[in-house]
Amino acid sequence: MALISLRQLLDHAAEHGYGVPAFNISNMEQGLAIMNAARASDAPVILQASLNVRQIYAGDRMIVNIVLALAEQFPDTPICLHQDHGNTEKACLSAIQAGFTSAMMDGSLEADAATPASYAYNIDVTARVAEMAHWVGASVEGELGVLGSLQTGEAAKEDGSAASGRLSRDQLLTDPDQAADFVMRTKVDALAIACGTSHGAYKFTRKPDGEILAMDQIEAVHARLPDTHLVMHGSSSVPQYLQDLINENGGEMPQTWGVPVEEIERGIRSGVRKINIDTDCRMAMSGAMRRYAREHPEVFDPRKFILAAVAELETLVRDRFERFGTAGHGSSIRVIPLPEMARRYEKGALDPRVAAV
Ligand code: G3H
Ligand code: 13P
Ligand code: ZN
Repeated sequence: MALISLRQLLDHAAEHGYGVPAFNISNMEQGLAIMNAARASDAPVILQASLNVRQIYAGDRMIVNIVLALAEQFPDTPICLHQDHGNTEKACLSAIQAGFTSAMMDGSLEADAATPASYAYNIDVTARVAEMAHWVGASVEGELGVLGSLQTGEAAKEDGSAASGRLSRDQLLTDPDQAADFVMRTKVDALAIACGTSHGAYKFTRKPDGEILAMDQIEAVHARLPDTHLVMHGSSSVPQYLQDLINENGGEMPQTWGVPVEEIERGIRSGVRKINIDTDCRMAMSGAMRRYAREHPEVFDPRKFILAAVAELETLVRDRFERFGTAGHGSSIRVIPLPEMARRYEKGALDPRVAAV
C-alpha cells in the first residue's frame, strides 16, 4: 500500500462524514500501537511528525523508514505521513522530499514558531508552499488564527509550536471571511482554525463551555467554506482517567481539562476532518509505564514497560477511531498515487470553492 495524500484522505472523510485523528509519533512503538488499533478498527491513519522529531529526536530517515515499514506491515491500512507545524518553506519541502505526503505550513507564526505573523506573510508563504507541493501531488495544511487560550490570552509553552506574548481575542478566533479569502488565495487542502484550543495538557482550568471553547466559530467558518477540510489542533481531551492513571502512580499533574470528545464530534458535523492529538498519547504511554513500574518493581526489561504503554495507547486510539467515525473506512479507500494527484491539481480539479455569502 502506497502512502496516501492528506487531500485524498480528507476528501473521502468529507464524502462519508467522518473525522480522522492525526496522531503525532516520535518512535516505532507509537506507530505500532496506532497501526494495531487501525487494523482492528479498519481505519485510515494520519501519522504526523513535528520538527523536533524530524530534526532532534529521531531524524528524517528514521521516522520515514518507520512509517514505510509500518505501511508494509499493515498493507490494508492507508497511511498519510504529515509534517506537523512546518515553520518555513524549507521545512515543508524537505519533508516532502524525504517521503512525507503532506505538510503543514504554519504561517500563523513567523519562522521562529513564536511570533504571530501578519496576514500578508501567512498568505505569501502558504501559497508558495501549496503551489510547490501540488506540483508533486503532495497536500498542504495552512493555519489562520493563532492557537491559544481564550481564558488567558496565552499559548502553552510546553512543546514545539506556541505563540509568545499576549494574544487578542481577534487573533485567537479565525474570522470566516478572512478564512474564505485565505483558502482562495493559498489553495490549501485543509485549514487549521483557532477556536480557543492550545497545545499540551493545560488547555482549560475548568470543563470548557462556549466562552472558552468557541465551537460556534468553527460552525461559522464551515458555513462560509463548506467544501474546505477544517483542522482542529490542540485536540487532546486530557481525560480524567489518564490524569488519574498518572497521579495514582507517582505523577504530579495538576488538575486540568482538555477538549471533550463530544465537542470534537460536534466539530466533525461542521467540517472538521483532521483532529490533532499528541498529549493524550503521551499521557497514555507514560501513565501505563508508571503503573507497570509500580506494580512490577522487580522488572528491568524495557520491553515490558513499553508493551504496557503500547496497549494503553491502542485503547485510546481505538476509542477515537470509533468516536470520530473513522472506523470501517480504511479498506474502502483506493490510494491515488501522488503523480496522479499532481495531474489533478494541474487540471484545477482540486481547486478550492467558497460559498457565496
Ligand atoms: O505541535 C505540537 C506537537 O505536540 C509536537 O510536539 O514539538 O514536542 O514534538 P513536539
Ligand atoms: P495536543 O497537545 O492537544 O495533543 O495537540 C497536538 C497538536 O495540535 C499537534 O499539532
Ligand atoms: Zn498543533
